Formats: sequence, C-alpha cells, structure tokens
Amino acid sequence: MTVAYNMRASRPTLSEPNEEWECKKDPFGSPTRTILTRRLQIDPFNHFDESHCNFLVRLWNTDDFIESCGKTPITTPEKARDFIWKRMMPKESNCGAAQGNLGFFVVSLFPSRDAPGNTVPVPVGIVSLIQGQPPDPHYTAPDVGFAILPEYSRKGYATEAVTALLGWARTEHCIQVVFGFCDPQNWRSRRVLEKVGMEARGVAQLQVFGGKKSDVYAIKGSHWDLSVYGITEKITKH
Ligand SMILES: CC(C)(COP(=O)(O)OP(=O)(O)OC[C@H]1O[C@@H](n2cnc3c(N)ncnc32)[C@H](O)[C@@H]1OP(=O)(O)O)[C@@H](O)C(=O)NCCC(=O)NCCS
Repeated sequence: MTVAYNMRASRPTLSEPNEEWECKKDPFGSPTRTILTRRLQIDPFNHFDESHCNFLVRLWNTDDFIESCGKTPITTPEKARDFIWKRMMPKESNCGAAQGNLGFFVVSLFPSRDAPGNTVPVPVGIVSLIQGQPPDPHYTAPDVGFAILPEYSRKGYATEAVTALLGWARTEHCIQVVFGFCDPQNWRSRRVLEKVGMEARGVAQLQVFGGKKSDVYAIKGSHWDLSVYGITEKITKH
C-alpha cells in the first residue's frame, strides 16, 4: 500500500509498518511508546523534556483552545512540568486500577515531511487516552482527547493522530472500548470523532465533567447500553 511504501522510504531503519501507524523501535528492536504515522510522530509526554513543557503552555493558551476547552492554570513551563509529571504520565501504580490510562502524547510533524527544512519533530498538538480512577468519578473505559495548534488545523492531523492512538491502544493494550466526550457545540471535535470511527450516542450531564452537558461518543461495536461501562447518567438524543 502507498502509505507503507512512503513510510519505508522515509524511515529505512524501521521494521514492517502496518497501514496507518507503527511503533518506533528501540536500538534492540523492541517497540517503544512512540507511535509513527504517515506524517506524524506521537511521543509520550515527558516532564524532563523542556520542549514538551513549553509546548503545553503554548497550546493550552491559544485563544482557540481557551474558547473550546476553557482556561487552564498551566501558564508557565514550571507549572507545565509539574502538571505533566502529576497528571499526564501514567504511573506504574495506576495500571491495575485503570488500564486504559495510557496518558498524554505530543503530536509532532515528522521531520522534513510537512515541515520542509526541519530536522527535528515540530510539535503541533496533543492526543490522550485517559481513564478516571476512584475516588474520582470514573467509567470502566477510557476517553480520547485531542487538540491541534490553530495554524496547523484542518489538515487532518487530529484525525491521523487519534486513529493511530486508538489502533495502538487496541493492538498493544487490548483496549476495545473508548469514549469521546465533547461540548455539543464543538463541531470540529465531533467531526474528528466521527472520522475516527466513533458513533454519537447522545447528550448527557457527565459526572466526570462536574455535571456539564457533553456529547457522548463511543467506538463502533461498543455495547448499546453504556451503563455497562459505568456511564449511568441519563443520555438523551439530540
Ligand atoms: C478539534 C481540533 C483538534 C481539530 O483538529 P484538526 O487537526 O483541525 O482536525 P482534522 O483536520 O483532523 O478534522 C477536522 C474536521 O472538522 C471540520 N471542521 C473544521 N471546522 C469546522 C466547523 N466550524 N464546523 C464543522 N466542521 C468543521 C473539518 O472540515 C474536518 O472535517 P473534514 O475532514 O470532513 O473536512 C482542533 O480544531 C482543536 O484543537 N480545537 C481546540 C481544542 C478542542 O476543541 N479539542 C477537542 C476537545 S474534545
């Protein structure tokens, strides 16, 4: 397939790619937690990486992000570092309680593809797969999150990154059920969720968002009754 040939041509050291994504391998040939797609490199957030801290501050303080998702307290690299360590990196101790908690990832343009002249990945967005844990409100499957810098939007990057993340979660972590939650007015986000294979189930006032009204999407093939995954809130059709 064309995608595979393109990937092989640009990344000769990598092993056999599948159609949409592949794991980057370490020098010993073992898969890492970095995911590669045709145009993107998707790396786990690392609080030691200054570029990750700076990027989080930049992305979460764009007018576009604040209008869509609200203002966060993450306004400096120091606050970002602390937040990444405490909230964005899955801890060993969490694994038993919430196996769907794969954490947050930086989405970057693969060098010299859509960013000619660059030799290092250029961060353009974030994807996440997060599952709440007791004592906080939680469900038994994770939900996917995503954001892309406004200057890089409408190029299909969110769709490409989320598709890869879901494929990786399914193949490498046996995660079959994933939700997508977004503001009912967030048309771009709803479109991304549809494009990655999720279906709209309706609107609910979700406990995980403090009772805020949210669109509820579930990956195709999920049980028709979402209460089996702990979503016991009343879901109404649009
Ligand atoms: C939502 C967001 C991640 C989309 O990123 P992106 O890389 O532009 O997404 P894609 O290019 O993969 O797809 C966007 C889709 O929305 C469509 N779209 C864009 N603006 C739209 C609008 N105002 N109304 C309806 N659809 C719209 C695009 O046309 C595209 O669909 P198409 O491929 O069928 O044409 C990005 O806009 C963003 O970060 N927004 C702010 C943060 C946010 O809302 N995150 C989601 C929280 S749940």
